[in-house]
Parts: sequence; C-alpha cells; structure tokens
Amino acid sequence: MPGTFITFEGGEGAGKSTQIRKLSERLKELHFDVVFTREPGGSAGAEILRHVLLNGAAEPFGAKTEVMLFAAARLDHMSETILPALERGAIVLCDRFSDSTRAYQGGEDGVDDQFLNALERVSVGENKPDLTLILDIDPDLGLERVTRRLATQSEDAKNLISHIDRFEKDDLAVHHKRRNAFLKIAKNEPDRCVVIDASQDEDIVGEVIWTCVEERLHMSNKARRRELTS
Ligand code: TYD
Repeated sequence: MPGTFITFEGGEGAGKSTQIRKLSERLKELHFDVVFTREPGGSAGAEILRHVLLNGAAEPFGAKTEVMLFAAARLDHMSETILPALERGAIVLCDRFSDSTRAYQGGEDGVDDQFLNALERVSVGENKPDLTLILDIDPDLGLERVTRRLATQSEDAKNLISHIDRFEKDDLAVHHKRRNAFLKIAKNEPDRCVVIDASQDEDIVGEVIWTCVEERLHMSNKARRRELTS
C-alpha cells in the first residue's frame, strides 16, 4: 500500500484525541494527505454498529456476538474508509483499532484468542497498521483526568458528554487489566508498537509521537525507493 496506517491505542484519559488532533494538524501543515478516523465507527455502516455497541444494546447477546459486531464494523471501516485512503497514498490516523478488541474483549475472562484471531483475519487480513502508538497511563491517573475534564464543562456540555459508554463503566481492576493487555501486545510486536508515557506533559507527549511518526515515514519512503529501483 502506498499510504501509511497509524493507530492510537490506550485507556481512558490517556489524551489520545488531543494527540491525534495535534499530529493531524502538523502533518497537514506539511501538505500530507491525512485521514482521521476512529473505531468503532469510521464509515456509515460502522457508525450504526458503534451506536449499538456503545449504548449497550448488544450486551445481552453475549461477548462473542459483541466482538463479532466490532469485527463487522471494522470490516466495513476497512473497505469503505481505510483501504481507499491507503491506496491513494494518504496517512490514516485511526483512534483505536484491533488492539482495543484484544485489550477490551480478550484476556483471561474474555473471548478466547482463537476466536479473536479468526475475526482479525477476516476483518483486517494483511492490512495491519504500520505503526501503533500506545498511550500508556496508570488508570488511576487517567480516570482522574477524565473526571477533572468533566468537572470543567458547562451543564449543557456535561449532558452531551456524560454518556458513560458500555466499556467505560467497568471498575478499576478491569482498567488495569486492559493496560497490561496493551503492554503485552507491545512487547509481542515491537516492530509495530511503541509505548508512550502519557502521564507526561501534553507537549512532550506530542514531541515523542512526532519523532516516532517522522521515523516511520522516513522508513516507508526508503523502502518504497528500494522497491522502485530494484
Ligand atoms: P470512544 O468514546 O470512541 O473512545 P475513547 O474511550 O477512546 O475516548 O469509545 C469507544 C469505546 O469502545 C471505548 O470504551 C473502548 C471501546 N472499544 C472496545 O471495547 N473494543 C474495540 O474493539 C474498540 C475499537 C473500542
């Protein structure tokens, strides 16, 4: 694929949205074609499934059905949004992707790895991200940030954003398990994943992200040049 696929992962309050916005602005200033997208969602069909998943409507059907809906949303998102953008050479920045399924729906008490692998093969196939930035934060601190952010909003804004989604309402121990799951993924796939300490100052986190992305873009260009000359 001529484009570059970058995903952002991490727990609540890690600052993913802020960092993706910053990175997107910086890349656009350099005239890159940037596509910002998110999961669950990111295409018309997947946005319908997002609604079903985040309001808990699919919960009564059980964990396997829920995870199949995440995969169905991902398949639509891939074919309608991500792959066309990568084919035309864009940089795709995606807020959460398949590692979130592993961290949120997998693990000891979750859906087994074989089932998740099968769904990943169908929905993602060979088109894994080129780079995954895992914004790592202690869940105690992350959730404190979320609470603080909510407290500074006006009543109207609070009403708009105070929908606690199906997966945010889980207790602290679950948030710790998810953090460990992301760290394990990073350890198993060091070429794709970079863990970033998200407890640092926002600007420092932004600079670390920028260095990783610059390096990755440079590497892809070099590989492409090699392909063209061979
Ligand atoms: P959202 O408000 O979009 O994101 P965030 O928490 O990143 O600010 O909520 C998405 C929720 O969906 C979030 O709680 C994580 C969850 N999720 C899964 O459980 N599995 C998945 O595969 C994905 C992509 C998200």
